[in-house]
Amino acid sequence: MTITASPAWAALNAHRQAFGKTHLRELFSGDPKRVESLTLSFDGIHYDFSKQRMSAETLGLLAALATEARVSDSTERMFAGERINISEGRSVLHVALRRSSGPFPSSQFDVMPEVIETRRRMAEFAERLRSGKCVGHKGMPIRDVVNIGIGGSDLGPKMMGQALRSVSHPALGVHYVSNLDGAQMAPLLQTLDPRTTLFIVASKTFTTQETMFNANTARDWLRANLGDELVSENHFAAVSSKPERAVEFGVSGDLVFPIWDWVGGRYSLWSAVGLALMIAIGPHAFDEMLRGAERMDEHFRTTPFERNLPVVMALIGIWNTNFLGASTNSVLPYNESLKYFPSFLQQLEMESNGKSVTIGGEALDCATSPIVWGELGNNGQHAFFQLLHQGGRVVPCDFIAAVRSDFPLPKHQEALLSNCFAQSAALAFGKNEGEVRTDLEKESLSPQEVADLLPHRVFAGNQPSSTLLLTSLNPGTLGALIALYEHKVFVQGAIWGINSFDQWGVELGKAVANRILPAVYDPELDKTLDASTRGLLAFSRKHLK
Ligand code: F6P
Repeated sequence: MTITASPAWAALNAHRQAFGKTHLRELFSGDPKRVESLTLSFDGIHYDFSKQRMSAETLGLLAALATEARVSDSTERMFAGERINISEGRSVLHVALRRSSGPFPSSQFDVMPEVIETRRRMAEFAERLRSGKCVGHKGMPIRDVVNIGIGGSDLGPKMMGQALRSVSHPALGVHYVSNLDGAQMAPLLQTLDPRTTLFIVASKTFTTQETMFNANTARDWLRANLGDELVSENHFAAVSSKPERAVEFGVSGDLVFPIWDWVGGRYSLWSAVGLALMIAIGPHAFDEMLRGAERMDEHFRTTPFERNLPVVMALIGIWNTNFLGASTNSVLPYNESLKYFPSFLQQLEMESNGKSVTIGGEALDCATSPIVWGELGNNGQHAFFQLLHQGGRVVPCDFIAAVRSDFPLPKHQEALLSNCFAQSAALAFGKNEGEVRTDLEKESLSPQEVADLLPHRVFAGNQPSSTLLLTSLNPGTLGALIALYEHKVFVQGAIWGINSFDQWGVELGKAVANRILPAVYDPELDKTLDASTRGLLAFSRKHLK
């Protein structure tokens, strides 16, 4: 039975009908305690969801849905190390990566010794590099580190590296290359000195096409510039669950850091995949990030649903997607340092929950992951916010800001926060006909002009949003923030009854690309391809020359 057949789902449907399109204006004026009851705080994170189109009663009904979906059982099964990723036969234990001690998940199956040993090796290497003791060609200290990886082996450390650049090593350059397009790697190489550059090849499988192309190009570049004197061990480290493949590539065994099959790529920031980040921010800050995430894990595991941040966030998403009919979720950071956060969340949410069959293989009859998208909020205001305000669609938004600036300039932060708060208020409360008319009448316009302009100047409002405020962008609050979203995704997956930890949907494209690549060189192979691909190849062959 899918969750849509449950009594809790039916109760929510009935509630939605009774609730109708009740406007946020009414919800606020009808309940002076609304903000108090629809705000949660934990560990430097303030989460105001009072501008969601729901009431305390809605939250109660949603919590009943989580109970009916046995979310607590699913959580305990994950923390117990059960193989909940059944289509790949794997446990899901990224929470182990931020634990301070073991045994975990159990004394029979204790992953902590290798987690702690890997953390120690990472810290030792990062410290050596940060203090100039890690040398490249002819004993020159390494000055630039390039992480080569894609998806989960890129987005997490890159996002966090940007978020924590105010506390990053001042003299080391840490760069990220993911794209097959040479336009990312080629200009970067022009700025680097091969004698003082170290590449980290981060790939769980060590077979991902993009990563292997870029790693080979890096090796060729080093060989071409350093010639026979190249000692590749000084210029390569690797992170992989297949260490033998990294060694075969030419990475010295003592610079290959392990990752395990119980860590999903998009949940791997906390593992050795975070090595480039640790090099940038230092082992101490990295550890603070782990502690922030660990505190969120504990909160998630032990707090009743209605006061549990990840659960509440997940339930709001379910309400918006499955009951209010929203098909997207916009993520709007009001902080330049969070500019990669929307891309990180896209993988986390859509690769995890963009599924349409249950764990048991049954077709689902409800929507799952919304389309997650977003942009720096302040920039978005002058671009796509028009649609949010007057486009007539339900687009739930997550506004995210840090109260204290990481790069303060006089008065900027106050103005930035005002914009963030103004947008969510304007989206929620809008501007009705009466208010627009009063304003227009002050502009000495004719009655006809007022009538003509009126419909264009009305804001319907009632656009749902939540606001997440962090005290500041620091490793601890950021660690907690990422763990919050990870668990939100987990809870939603548990309610929809899907496997949030596989990603078969990305495999077909990879296989097709492998069939097309030889045909780029050999038109004889066209026969096996569809007519559209043949046409695209014919045009490309002509212009590739
Ligand atoms: O193609 C999807 C994917 O498998 C992601 O899930 C993963 O994060 C990414 O590719 C990179 O994989 P790898 O770390 O094995 O190179």
